[in-house]
Amino acid sequence: MAENWVLTATAQTPTNIAVIKYWGKRDETLILPVNDSISVTLDPSHLCTTTTVAVSPTFQQDRMWLNGKEVSLSGVRYQNCLREIRGRAGDLEDKEKGIKIEKKDWEKLHVHVSSYNNFPTAAGLASSAAGFACLVFALAKLMNVKEDHSKLSAIARQGSGSACRSLFGGFVKWVMGKEEDGNDSLAVQLVDEKHWDDLVIIIAVVSSRQKETSSTTGMRESVETSLLLKHRAEEIVPKRILQMEEAIKNRDFASFAQLTCADSNQFHAVCLDTSPPIFYMNDTSHRIISCVEKWNRTEGSPQVAYTFDAGPNAVLIARDRKTATQLLQRLLFHFPPKPDTDLNSYVIGDKSILKDAGLEGTKDVEALLPPPEVVNAPAQKYPGDVSYFICTRPGEGPVLLSDESLSLLDPKTGLPK
Ligand code: DP6
Repeated sequence: MAENWVLTATAQTPTNIAVIKYWGKRDETLILPVNDSISVTLDPSHLCTTTTVAVSPTFQQDRMWLNGKEVSLSGVRYQNCLREIRGRAGDLEDKEKGIKIEKKDWEKLHVHVSSYNNFPTAAGLASSAAGFACLVFALAKLMNVKEDHSKLSAIARQGSGSACRSLFGGFVKWVMGKEEDGNDSLAVQLVDEKHWDDLVIIIAVVSSRQKETSSTTGMRESVETSLLLKHRAEEIVPKRILQMEEAIKNRDFASFAQLTCADSNQFHAVCLDTSPPIFYMNDTSHRIISCVEKWNRTEGSPQVAYTFDAGPNAVLIARDRKTATQLLQRLLFHFPPKPDTDLNSYVIGDKSILKDAGLEGTKDVEALLPPPEVVNAPAQKYPGDVSYFICTRPGEGPVLLSDESLSLLDPKTGLPK
């Protein structure tokens, strides 16, 4: 058998946003949570990670590149994922390439990993969730691991908790589990992305100068100091999870929005209840909440839900396209870009929403008419407080990309292209 072969697999994995939050671990190493959580997977066309993994007898060590730059794989979270996947690798034969790898051989073969996000990593949009999910999924394909997505999610979980939910599309539940070894702490799909396809998601990437406390550190401090976290995990979340599952199953937007907003607010209340307190939201985040709350109240029933993770970005979920169009108009009225910014680079992702709003090609965003409820109030405008908006929707889970031209590693050298 020739010894200079390179075998690759490329996958694409979505990011996800929790509507019932994961905040707090009962086991730091295995990454076991103190409560169940539920998320919606975001459309990978707008937000995803693409990862190519490769093995070759010529590789001297495990190596990884993120957005083209070499990064270390020595962290325990990477090591745990690599070990768990290698331990489950199967026999593999590629007659065309003259490659035969037996189960036991995988331990000795080094891997190369190249990963790329189609959105700015610095924007604070759960890049670690998509990243670890993609690494685990791509390695599982490469190494012929015969396990279902839930089993793989329990491996991705050991990279980053929220990553386990990115193994599925649609709405996903991370079941906290009871076992000490964490084998039952895994993700399950509640419904796929077609079940509730009216929903439109608009993300406001909020400008921020400060570096936020990482989720890992923040939740550790909350577990150690917040009594509200204990109450939330034991009393509130178990009931909320059941109500959220019902709301999703019945496409009951009013209930879905009420639970989503309440849970985001409670997560941020837990952060405030932490000592020293953690502030993830800023003035812009609070203004977006007020704007949505006010509109929902004027309409008499929820039109839009909001949720915020460990940073100031707002994720807004509109009940349908018509509402999303009005939402975008409102957002652009209150949060216009800095002067001379092209609307085409200020609203990215699914541009058809911009078109529906009749704003495609608009030069003078400043001249937008105020939404009805602010007509008689002083117009509040905050140019530059939002960096940009991303329009998207619920999306599908991981996919294997068989087109070799999409590989991020050179099939001959196994190095980044
Ligand atoms: C606020 O999954 O990033 O986004 O498990 O320590 O890697 P680690 O934390 P991470 O935490 C995500 C927290 C959150 C809520 C959520 O996604 O459920």
